[in-house]
Amino acid sequence: MEDHLSKLDKRLLSAARRAGALADKRGVRLYLVGGIVRDILLKKQSLDLDMVAEPIIFPSSKGRNPGPVPSIGGTGTWVEADAMKFAKELSTILKARLVVYPQFKTASLSLSNGVRVDCATARKETYPVSGALPVVEPGSLKEDLFRRDFTINALAVSLNKNSFGQLIDEYGGFRDLKSRTIRILHDKSFLDDPTRILRAVRFEQRFAFSIEPKTIGLLERALKQECFCSVTAPRLFAEFKKILKEKDPVKCFTRLNQLNAMEFLAGAKQINLEVFRRLNRRDFSQDSSAWLIYCMALMESISPPKKEQVLNKFPFTREEKQSLSQAGRLKTVWAALQKKDLTKSGVYAILKPFSLDVVLYFLARAQEPMVRARIKRFLEKDSKVAVCLTGHDLKNLGVVVGKDIGLVLNELLYRKIDKGYKTKAQERQWVKKYLKAL
Ligand code: CTP
Repeated sequence: MEDHLSKLDKRLLSAARRAGALADKRGVRLYLVGGIVRDILLKKQSLDLDMVAEPIIFPSSKGRNPGPVPSIGGTGTWVEADAMKFAKELSTILKARLVVYPQFKTASLSLSNGVRVDCATARKETYPVSGALPVVEPGSLKEDLFRRDFTINALAVSLNKNSFGQLIDEYGGFRDLKSRTIRILHDKSFLDDPTRILRAVRFEQRFAFSIEPKTIGLLERALKQECFCSVTAPRLFAEFKKILKEKDPVKCFTRLNQLNAMEFLAGAKQINLEVFRRLNRRDFSQDSSAWLIYCMALMESISPPKKEQVLNKFPFTREEKQSLSQAGRLKTVWAALQKKDLTKSGVYAILKPFSLDVVLYFLARAQEPMVRARIKRFLEKDSKVAVCLTGHDLKNLGVVVGKDIGLVLNELLYRKIDKGYKTKAQERQWVKKYLKAL
Protein backbone atom coordinates (compact mmCIF):
# COMPACT_ATOMS: atom_id res chain seq x y z
CA MET A 1 0.00 0.00 0.00
CA GLU A 2 1.44 3.42 -0.97
CA ASP A 3 2.65 5.69 1.84
CA HIS A 4 1.12 9.03 0.88
CA LEU A 5 2.98 10.83 3.63
CA SER A 6 6.52 9.86 2.70
CA LYS A 7 7.20 13.17 0.91
CA LEU A 8 5.67 15.32 3.61
CA ASP A 9 7.67 18.24 5.01
CA LYS A 10 9.91 16.93 7.82
CA ARG A 11 8.23 19.04 10.51
CA LEU A 12 4.79 17.76 9.52
CA LEU A 13 5.97 14.18 9.16
CA SER A 14 7.50 14.16 12.63
CA ALA A 15 4.30 15.57 14.21
CA ALA A 16 2.16 13.08 12.24
CA ARG A 17 4.30 10.09 13.29
CA ARG A 18 4.33 11.04 16.94
CA ALA A 19 0.58 11.62 16.90
CA GLY A 20 0.14 8.19 15.28
CA ALA A 21 2.31 6.55 17.93
CA LEU A 22 0.27 8.13 20.72
CA ALA A 23 -2.94 7.04 19.00
CA ASP A 24 -1.65 3.44 18.93
CA LYS A 25 -0.84 3.64 22.63
CA ARG A 26 -4.27 5.01 23.52
CA GLY A 27 -6.27 2.69 21.29
CA VAL A 28 -7.48 5.46 19.01
CA ARG A 29 -7.61 5.38 15.23
CA LEU A 30 -6.23 8.62 13.92
CA TYR A 31 -6.38 10.21 10.48
CA LEU A 32 -5.37 13.28 8.58
CA VAL A 33 -8.49 14.60 6.88
CA GLY A 34 -9.86 17.31 4.61
CA GLY A 35 -7.92 20.04 2.83
CA ILE A 36 -4.50 18.88 4.02
CA VAL A 37 -4.94 15.46 2.36
CA ARG A 38 -6.10 17.13 -0.85
CA ASP A 39 -3.11 19.46 -0.76
CA ILE A 40 -0.63 16.66 -0.05
CA LEU A 41 -1.95 14.73 -3.05
CA LEU A 42 -1.74 17.88 -5.17
CA LYS A 43 1.80 18.40 -3.85
CA LYS A 44 0.86 21.73 -2.32
CA GLN A 45 1.89 21.95 1.29
CA SER A 46 0.62 23.89 4.23
CA LEU A 47 1.67 23.75 7.86
CA ASP A 48 -1.81 22.91 9.17
CA LEU A 49 -2.63 19.31 10.03
CA ASP A 50 -6.30 18.46 10.53
CA MET A 51 -6.64 15.22 12.48
CA VAL A 52 -9.72 13.19 13.28
CA ALA A 53 -9.82 10.51 15.99
CA GLU A 54 -12.24 7.70 15.37
CA PRO A 55 -13.82 5.54 18.04
CA ILE A 56 -12.29 2.09 17.64
CA ILE A 57 -14.21 -1.12 17.59
CA PHE A 58 -12.55 -3.77 19.77
CA PRO A 59 -13.45 -7.41 20.14
CA SER A 60 -15.42 -6.98 23.43
CA SER A 61 -12.60 -5.37 25.38
CA LYS A 62 -14.60 -2.86 27.43
CA GLY A 63 -12.66 -1.57 30.44
CA ARG A 64 -9.49 -3.52 29.67
CA ASN A 65 -6.36 -2.49 27.83
CA PRO A 66 -7.56 -2.63 24.24
CA GLY A 67 -4.28 -4.01 22.90
CA PRO A 68 -3.00 -3.25 19.40
CA VAL A 69 -5.09 -1.08 17.13
CA PRO A 70 -7.18 -3.30 14.89
CA SER A 71 -6.96 -2.94 11.14
CA ILE A 72 -9.38 -0.60 9.40
CA GLY A 73 -12.83 -2.11 9.27
CA GLY A 74 -12.50 -4.30 12.44
CA THR A 75 -15.57 -5.19 14.51
CA GLY A 76 -16.38 -5.32 18.25
CA THR A 77 -17.21 -2.83 21.06
CA TRP A 78 -17.21 0.96 20.54
CA VAL A 79 -14.64 2.93 22.50
CA GLU A 80 -15.23 6.65 22.78
CA ALA A 81 -12.40 8.68 21.19
CA ASP A 82 -11.94 11.90 23.10
CA ALA A 83 -10.03 14.25 20.83
CA MET A 84 -9.58 16.85 23.56
CA LYS A 85 -7.98 14.43 25.97
CA PHE A 86 -5.86 13.06 23.15
CA ALA A 87 -4.79 16.57 22.07
CA LYS A 88 -3.79 17.43 25.62
CA GLU A 89 -1.48 14.45 25.81
CA LEU A 90 -0.12 15.15 22.34
CA SER A 91 0.62 18.77 23.26
CA THR A 92 2.97 17.54 26.02
CA ILE A 93 4.75 15.19 23.63
CA LEU A 94 5.12 17.83 20.92
CA LYS A 95 5.81 20.66 23.40
CA ALA A 96 2.98 22.58 21.76
CA ARG A 97 0.67 25.32 22.95
CA LEU A 98 -2.82 23.93 23.42
CA VAL A 99 -6.18 25.63 23.01
CA VAL A 100 -9.30 23.57 23.70
CA TYR A 101 -12.76 24.39 22.32
CA PRO A 102 -15.10 22.35 24.56
CA GLN A 103 -18.24 23.61 22.76
CA PHE A 104 -17.00 22.01 19.52
CA LYS A 105 -15.12 19.16 21.23
CA THR A 106 -11.99 20.14 19.30
CA ALA A 107 -8.50 21.32 20.21
CA SER A 108 -5.68 23.18 18.46
CA LEU A 109 -1.97 22.72 18.99
CA SER A 110 0.63 25.28 17.92
CA LEU A 111 4.20 24.04 17.65
CA SER A 112 7.19 26.35 17.86
CA ASN A 113 8.28 25.30 14.32
CA GLY A 114 5.09 26.79 12.84
CA VAL A 115 3.12 23.54 12.53
CA ARG A 116 -0.51 23.68 13.69
CA VAL A 117 -2.47 20.57 14.56
CA ASP A 118 -6.25 20.57 14.88
CA CYS A 119 -7.81 17.55 16.57
CA ALA A 120 -11.47 16.56 16.44
CA THR A 121 -13.48 13.46 17.22
CA ALA A 122 -15.05 11.85 14.15
CA ARG A 123 -18.64 13.03 13.95
CA LYS A 124 -21.76 12.91 11.90
CA GLU A 125 -23.99 15.84 11.16
CA THR A 126 -27.65 16.34 10.44
CA TYR A 127 -29.18 19.59 9.22
CA PRO A 128 -32.61 20.05 10.81
CA VAL A 129 -33.06 23.28 8.78
CA SER A 130 -31.26 24.15 5.54
CA GLY A 131 -28.40 26.60 6.00
CA ALA A 132 -28.54 26.45 9.82
CA LEU A 133 -25.76 25.00 11.93
CA PRO A 134 -25.91 21.20 11.94
CA VAL A 135 -26.69 18.91 14.85
CA VAL A 136 -23.45 17.07 15.59
CA GLU A 137 -22.92 13.67 17.25
CA PRO A 138 -20.00 11.22 17.39
CA GLY A 139 -19.71 9.02 14.34
CA SER A 140 -17.41 6.85 12.29
CA LEU A 141 -14.72 8.18 9.96
CA LYS A 142 -16.94 7.32 6.99
CA GLU A 143 -19.72 9.47 8.44
CA ASP A 144 -17.26 12.22 9.22
CA LEU A 145 -16.11 12.26 5.61
CA PHE A 146 -19.67 12.16 4.30
CA ARG A 147 -20.57 15.42 6.07
CA ARG A 148 -17.93 17.28 4.06
CA ASP A 149 -18.34 19.59 1.10
CA PHE A 150 -16.66 17.92 -1.88
CA THR A 151 -15.18 14.53 -2.66
CA ILE A 152 -11.70 16.08 -2.98
CA ASN A 153 -12.05 17.33 0.61
CA ALA A 154 -13.41 14.01 1.89
CA LEU A 155 -10.18 12.02 1.76
CA ALA A 156 -8.30 10.74 4.80
CA VAL A 157 -4.86 9.29 5.45
CA SER A 158 -4.25 6.90 8.33
CA LEU A 159 -1.66 7.86 10.96
CA ASN A 160 -1.59 4.65 13.04
CA LYS A 161 1.65 2.76 12.68
CA ASN A 162 0.37 -0.38 10.97
CA SER A 163 -1.40 1.63 8.26
CA PHE A 164 0.64 4.88 8.28
CA GLY A 165 0.18 6.85 5.07
CA GLN A 166 -2.66 4.66 3.77
CA LEU A 167 -5.28 6.62 1.81
CA ILE A 168 -8.95 6.21 2.75
CA ASP A 169 -11.10 7.19 -0.17
CA GLU A 170 -14.75 6.41 0.55
CA TYR A 171 -16.31 8.75 -2.00
CA GLY A 172 -14.08 8.77 -5.07
CA GLY A 173 -12.08 11.86 -4.10
CA PHE A 174 -8.82 10.51 -5.54
CA ARG A 175 -10.40 9.92 -8.94
CA ASP A 176 -11.88 13.45 -8.84
CA LEU A 177 -8.54 14.97 -7.91
CA LYS A 178 -6.95 13.23 -10.87
CA SER A 179 -9.70 14.35 -13.25
CA ARG A 180 -9.70 17.86 -11.70
CA THR A 181 -13.33 17.69 -10.69
CA ILE A 182 -15.36 19.40 -7.96
CA ARG A 183 -18.23 17.13 -6.92
CA ILE A 184 -20.57 17.24 -3.94
CA LEU A 185 -21.24 14.07 -1.96
CA HIS A 186 -25.03 14.09 -1.93
CA ASP A 187 -27.91 15.96 -3.57
CA LYS A 188 -28.83 18.07 -0.52
CA SER A 189 -25.32 19.33 0.05
CA PHE A 190 -25.81 22.92 -1.21
CA LEU A 191 -29.12 23.23 0.61
CA ASP A 192 -27.60 21.95 3.85
CA ASP A 193 -24.80 24.44 3.55
CA PRO A 194 -25.16 27.10 0.82
CA THR A 195 -21.72 28.54 1.63
CA ARG A 196 -20.50 25.52 -0.33
CA ILE A 197 -21.53 27.37 -3.49
CA LEU A 198 -18.81 29.92 -2.76
CA ARG A 199 -16.40 27.15 -1.79
CA ALA A 200 -17.06 25.18 -4.98
CA VAL A 201 -16.16 28.20 -7.09
CA ARG A 202 -13.14 29.05 -4.93
CA PHE A 203 -11.62 25.57 -5.24
CA GLU A 204 -12.53 25.34 -8.91
CA GLN A 205 -10.75 28.58 -9.71
CA ARG A 206 -7.83 28.05 -7.33
CA PHE A 207 -6.89 24.67 -8.77
CA ALA A 208 -8.21 25.23 -12.33
CA PHE A 209 -10.66 22.32 -11.80
CA SER A 210 -14.23 22.06 -13.12
CA ILE A 211 -17.44 21.75 -11.18
CA GLU A 212 -19.03 18.62 -12.67
CA PRO A 213 -22.38 18.97 -14.48
CA LYS A 214 -24.64 17.32 -11.86
CA THR A 215 -23.07 19.46 -9.12
CA ILE A 216 -23.64 22.57 -11.27
CA GLY A 217 -27.28 21.56 -11.72
CA LEU A 218 -27.79 21.16 -7.96
CA LEU A 219 -25.98 24.42 -7.31
CA GLU A 220 -28.30 26.25 -9.71
CA ARG A 221 -31.33 24.58 -8.17
CA ALA A 222 -30.24 25.68 -4.69
CA LEU A 223 -29.81 29.25 -5.97
CA LYS A 224 -33.31 29.20 -7.45
CA GLN A 225 -34.56 28.27 -3.99
CA GLU A 226 -32.85 31.42 -2.64
CA CYS A 227 -30.65 29.29 -0.43
CA PHE A 228 -28.45 32.18 0.73
CA CYS A 229 -31.39 33.57 2.75
CA SER A 230 -31.03 30.74 5.25
CA VAL A 231 -27.36 31.39 6.03
CA THR A 232 -26.18 33.79 8.72
CA ALA A 233 -24.17 36.80 7.59
CA PRO A 234 -21.00 35.84 9.54
CA ARG A 235 -20.81 32.46 7.77
CA LEU A 236 -21.29 34.06 4.36
CA PHE A 237 -18.78 36.73 5.25
CA ALA A 238 -16.16 34.14 6.24
CA GLU A 239 -16.39 32.50 2.81
CA PHE A 240 -16.59 35.85 0.99
CA LYS A 241 -13.39 36.93 2.75
CA LYS A 242 -11.68 33.65 1.81
CA ILE A 243 -12.42 34.42 -1.85
CA LEU A 244 -11.03 37.92 -1.47
CA LYS A 245 -7.88 36.34 0.00
CA GLU A 246 -7.36 34.00 -2.96
CA LYS A 247 -4.46 34.73 -5.28
CA ASP A 248 -6.84 35.67 -8.08
CA PRO A 249 -10.24 36.64 -6.68
CA VAL A 250 -11.24 38.20 -10.02
CA LYS A 251 -11.55 34.72 -11.51
CA CYS A 252 -13.82 33.59 -8.65
CA PHE A 253 -16.15 36.58 -8.95
CA THR A 254 -16.27 36.22 -12.74
CA ARG A 255 -17.38 32.61 -12.29
CA LEU A 256 -19.88 33.53 -9.57
CA ASN A 257 -21.34 36.12 -11.96
CA GLN A 258 -21.57 33.48 -14.66
CA LEU A 259 -23.51 31.26 -12.26
CA ASN A 260 -25.73 34.16 -11.13
CA ALA A 261 -24.47 33.45 -7.62
CA MET A 262 -23.52 36.92 -6.34
CA GLU A 263 -26.82 37.51 -4.57
CA PHE A 264 -25.28 36.89 -1.16
CA LEU A 265 -23.39 40.18 -1.35
CA ALA A 266 -25.81 42.96 -2.19
CA GLY A 267 -28.90 41.18 -3.48
CA ALA A 268 -28.06 41.27 -7.22
CA LYS A 269 -27.37 38.00 -9.05
CA GLN A 270 -24.33 39.56 -10.73
CA ILE A 271 -21.93 42.30 -9.82
CA ASN A 272 -20.11 44.79 -12.03
CA LEU A 273 -16.44 43.78 -12.07
CA GLU A 274 -15.11 46.55 -14.28
CA VAL A 275 -13.41 48.47 -11.47
CA PHE A 276 -12.13 45.25 -9.97
CA ARG A 277 -10.49 44.22 -13.22
CA ARG A 278 -8.86 47.61 -13.71
CA LEU A 279 -7.01 47.52 -10.38
CA ASN A 280 -3.21 47.67 -10.67
CA ARG A 281 -2.65 44.64 -8.51
CA ARG A 282 1.09 45.13 -8.35
CA ASP A 283 0.51 48.19 -6.19
CA PHE A 284 -0.83 46.21 -3.24
CA SER A 285 -0.71 42.44 -3.78
CA GLN A 286 2.05 42.02 -1.18
CA ASP A 287 0.01 43.93 1.36
CA SER A 288 -1.58 41.91 4.15
CA SER A 289 -4.91 43.62 3.70
CA ALA A 290 -5.07 43.06 -0.06
CA TRP A 291 -8.46 41.44 0.56
CA LEU A 292 -9.83 44.73 1.91
CA ILE A 293 -8.56 46.62 -1.13
CA TYR A 294 -10.31 44.11 -3.39
CA CYS A 295 -13.40 44.64 -1.29
CA MET A 296 -13.17 48.42 -1.83
CA ALA A 297 -13.16 47.80 -5.59
CA LEU A 298 -16.24 45.57 -5.36
CA MET A 299 -18.07 48.08 -3.22
CA GLU A 300 -17.45 50.84 -5.73
CA SER A 301 -19.84 49.07 -8.07
CA ILE A 302 -22.64 48.95 -5.51
CA SER A 303 -25.07 51.83 -5.04
CA PRO A 304 -24.50 53.85 -1.82
CA PRO A 305 -27.63 52.60 0.01
CA LYS A 306 -26.79 48.96 -0.85
CA LYS A 307 -23.19 49.54 0.20
CA GLU A 308 -24.44 50.79 3.55
CA GLN A 309 -26.54 47.63 3.91
CA VAL A 310 -23.52 45.42 3.14
CA LEU A 311 -21.38 47.31 5.65
CA ASN A 312 -24.01 46.77 8.33
CA LYS A 313 -24.81 43.17 7.42
CA PHE A 314 -21.28 41.71 7.45
CA PRO A 315 -19.09 41.69 10.57
CA PHE A 316 -16.40 44.09 9.33
CA THR A 317 -14.33 45.67 12.09
CA ARG A 318 -14.83 49.38 12.78
CA GLU A 319 -11.55 50.20 10.99
CA GLU A 320 -12.46 48.09 7.95
CA LYS A 321 -15.85 49.79 7.73
CA GLN A 322 -14.21 53.18 7.95
CA SER A 323 -11.73 52.29 5.19
CA LEU A 324 -14.51 50.98 2.95
CA SER A 325 -16.45 54.21 3.42
CA GLN A 326 -13.38 56.39 2.88
CA ALA A 327 -12.62 54.58 -0.40
CA GLY A 328 -15.77 56.20 -1.81
CA ARG A 329 -13.97 59.58 -1.80
CA LEU A 330 -11.67 58.40 -4.61
CA LYS A 331 -12.80 60.88 -7.28
CA THR A 332 -12.55 63.94 -5.02
CA VAL A 333 -9.06 62.90 -3.96
CA TRP A 334 -7.93 62.34 -7.53
CA ALA A 335 -9.22 65.75 -8.54
CA ALA A 336 -7.29 67.35 -5.67
CA LEU A 337 -4.13 65.43 -6.56
CA GLN A 338 -4.26 66.61 -10.17
CA LYS A 339 -3.84 70.30 -9.26
CA LYS A 340 -0.72 71.68 -10.93
CA ASP A 341 1.05 73.62 -8.20
CA LEU A 342 0.59 71.14 -5.41
CA THR A 343 3.49 71.02 -2.94
CA LYS A 344 4.67 67.82 -1.31
CA SER A 345 3.08 68.94 1.93
CA GLY A 346 -0.10 69.70 -0.03
CA VAL A 347 -0.20 66.06 -1.16
CA TYR A 348 0.48 65.01 2.43
CA ALA A 349 -2.45 67.09 3.70
CA ILE A 350 -4.78 65.47 1.14
CA LEU A 351 -3.74 61.86 1.82
CA LYS A 352 -2.96 61.91 5.53
CA PRO A 353 -6.60 61.57 6.71
CA PHE A 354 -6.92 58.20 4.95
CA SER A 355 -5.81 54.80 6.22
CA LEU A 356 -2.85 53.18 4.48
CA ASP A 357 -5.15 50.63 2.77
CA VAL A 358 -7.30 53.39 1.33
CA VAL A 359 -4.25 55.24 -0.01
CA LEU A 360 -3.07 51.99 -1.60
CA TYR A 361 -6.50 51.65 -3.16
CA PHE A 362 -6.29 55.20 -4.57
CA LEU A 363 -2.94 54.23 -6.07
CA ALA A 364 -4.11 50.90 -7.47
CA ARG A 365 -7.01 52.67 -9.20
CA ALA A 366 -4.96 55.58 -10.56
CA GLN A 367 -3.80 55.67 -14.19
CA GLU A 368 -2.66 59.27 -14.44
CA PRO A 369 1.19 59.34 -14.07
CA MET A 370 1.31 62.52 -11.98
CA VAL A 371 -1.31 61.23 -9.53
CA ARG A 372 0.48 57.91 -9.26
CA ALA A 373 3.84 59.57 -8.66
CA ARG A 374 2.40 61.81 -5.96
CA ILE A 375 0.71 58.95 -4.11
CA LYS A 376 3.85 56.81 -4.39
CA ARG A 377 6.04 59.57 -2.99
CA PHE A 378 3.63 60.01 -0.11
CA LEU A 379 3.64 56.27 0.64
CA GLU A 380 7.37 55.74 0.28
CA LYS A 381 8.68 58.96 1.81
CA ASP A 382 6.53 61.74 3.09
CA SER A 383 4.09 59.71 5.18
CA LYS A 384 7.12 58.55 7.19
CA VAL A 385 8.52 62.01 7.94
CA ALA A 386 8.37 63.03 11.60
CA VAL A 387 9.60 66.19 13.31
CA CYS A 388 12.47 65.84 15.76
CA LEU A 389 11.57 68.77 18.00
CA THR A 390 9.23 68.00 20.87
CA GLY A 391 6.55 70.14 22.52
CA HIS A 392 9.06 70.74 25.26
CA ASP A 393 11.60 72.10 22.73
CA LEU A 394 8.95 74.44 21.31
CA LYS A 395 8.08 75.69 24.78
CA ASN A 396 11.75 76.49 25.35
CA LEU A 397 11.74 78.41 22.06
CA GLY A 398 8.86 80.55 23.31
CA VAL A 399 5.71 78.89 21.89
CA VAL A 400 2.76 79.32 24.23
CA VAL A 401 1.75 75.99 25.78
CA GLY A 402 -1.62 74.65 24.57
CA LYS A 403 -3.19 74.59 21.15
CA ASP A 404 -0.32 76.58 19.60
CA ILE A 405 2.17 73.79 20.20
CA GLY A 406 0.19 71.39 18.00
CA LEU A 407 -0.28 74.03 15.29
CA VAL A 408 3.41 74.89 15.16
CA LEU A 409 4.44 71.21 15.14
CA ASN A 410 2.09 70.62 12.24
CA GLU A 411 3.38 73.62 10.33
CA LEU A 412 6.94 72.46 11.02
CA LEU A 413 6.15 68.99 9.67
CA TYR A 414 4.86 70.51 6.40
CA ARG A 415 8.00 72.63 6.05
CA LYS A 416 10.19 69.64 6.77
CA ILE A 417 8.45 67.64 4.03
CA ASP A 418 8.85 70.50 1.53
CA LYS A 419 12.40 71.53 2.42
CA GLY A 420 13.77 68.13 3.41
CA TYR A 421 15.30 69.29 6.74
CA LYS A 422 17.75 66.73 8.03
CA THR A 423 18.76 68.12 11.43
CA LYS A 424 17.17 69.32 14.62
CA ALA A 425 19.09 72.61 14.22
CA GLN A 426 17.34 73.27 10.87
CA GLU A 427 13.97 72.67 12.52
CA ARG A 428 14.86 74.96 15.41
CA GLN A 429 15.93 77.68 12.98
CA TRP A 430 12.64 77.46 11.11
CA VAL A 431 10.63 77.76 14.35
CA LYS A 432 12.58 80.84 15.41
CA LYS A 433 11.94 82.50 12.03
CA TYR A 434 8.29 81.52 12.15
CA LEU A 435 7.81 82.97 15.62
CA LYS A 436 9.51 86.23 14.60
CA ALA A 437 7.22 86.62 11.61
CA LEU A 438 4.05 86.20 13.73
N1 CTP B 1 -15.70 21.77 5.23
C1 CTP B 1 -16.93 21.41 4.71
N2 CTP B 1 -17.90 22.34 4.48
C2 CTP B 1 -17.67 23.65 4.78
C3 CTP B 1 -16.43 24.03 5.32
C4 CTP B 1 -15.45 23.06 5.52
O1 CTP B 1 -17.13 20.23 4.44
N3 CTP B 1 -18.61 24.57 4.56
C5 CTP B 1 -14.66 20.70 5.47
C6 CTP B 1 -13.88 20.28 4.23
O2 CTP B 1 -13.59 18.92 4.35
C7 CTP B 1 -12.61 21.08 4.34
C8 CTP B 1 -12.38 21.14 5.84
O3 CTP B 1 -13.70 21.16 6.42
O4 CTP B 1 -11.55 20.48 3.66
C9 CTP B 1 -11.58 22.32 6.32
O5 CTP B 1 -12.21 23.52 5.94
P1 CTP B 1 -11.42 24.83 5.51
O6 CTP B 1 -10.26 25.03 6.40
O7 CTP B 1 -12.40 25.93 5.33
O8 CTP B 1 -10.98 24.44 4.04
P2 CTP B 1 -9.72 23.79 3.40
O9 CTP B 1 -10.22 22.66 2.57
O10 CTP B 1 -8.64 23.48 4.37
O11 CTP B 1 -9.33 24.93 2.37
P3 CTP B 1 -8.24 26.08 2.40
O12 CTP B 1 -7.10 25.46 1.64
O13 CTP B 1 -8.90 27.19 1.66
O14 CTP B 1 -7.95 26.40 3.83
